[in-house]
Amino acid sequence: MGGPAHEETRRGHSGTGPGAITPDGCAVEVYTRLPVGDEPDVIASAVPAGASLLELGCGTGRVTHPLLERGFAVTAVDESPGMLEHVRGARTVCSPIETLELGERFDAVLLSSFLVHAGDVRVRDALLRACRRHVADDGCVLIQREGEDWHERVPRERRAGGGLVRIAAADPTDDPRVSAVRCEYVFPDATWTQTFLSRRMGREEFEDALAGAGLAVDSYLTEDRTWVRALPTA
Ligand SMILES: C[S@@+](CC[C@H](N)C(=O)[O-])C[C@H]1O[C@@H](n2cnc3c(N)ncnc32)[C@H](O)[C@@H]1O
Repeated sequence: MGGPAHEETRRGHSGTGPGAITPDGCAVEVYTRLPVGDEPDVIASAVPAGASLLELGCGTGRVTHPLLERGFAVTAVDESPGMLEHVRGARTVCSPIETLELGERFDAVLLSSFLVHAGDVRVRDALLRACRRHVADDGCVLIQREGEDWHERVPRERRAGGGLVRIAAADPTDDPRVSAVRCEYVFPDATWTQTFLSRRMGREEFEDALAGAGLAVDSYLTEDRTWVRALPTA
């Protein structure tokens, strides 16, 4: 596994365990082990066949690879070179999302993995603006939000990829809207942790944030309202 073991950390984010840790505290090795879920189905239900996709925060390609297999043309962006080394078959771009300027627009932009809950609203707004400037006028932005009770329903855990994924805590911080979330990834041979800041966002606050970036909700794609299809506004 290449890349520096610890890339420069984002404020409020940290990670522990073997191998490279990304600036937002993710362990690269964990993301090579986690299986994909229903993400490709949700995405495929919301965009035209063969669409050009810009995937922001692609990690190791856990979702990228099934999207490529379905015939989408994926440009995969991540700020972690250690993550991007694992992406196969997609065009990759190593960059923070906030400053991304590809000078082209896509049928759909994907902002998954709850990145929209960034603790710092300036980061959140910059992520949303990056979505807006890369989406075609007749395209869409797909955003994955947290479930409504996720900050309260801790600890919780699930089995995945031969390990246990546990959301161990969502601790209060100085900002009453922001929790310090601690995840544990327990595998037979190793354990990793990730701590990150997550801002609670009700539907109104979420839709206001989108509006501020020139986006409007078109539809909620899943019953739990975690996947959202948004359209660019004029
Ligand atoms: C939780 S992982 C999820 C990876 C992938 N979306 C998945 O579901 O398997 C988050 C990824 O987003 C990247 N990331 C987080 N914030 C970022 C930012 N602001 N700019 C670029 N990459 C970012 C991290 O490096 C990491 O690879």
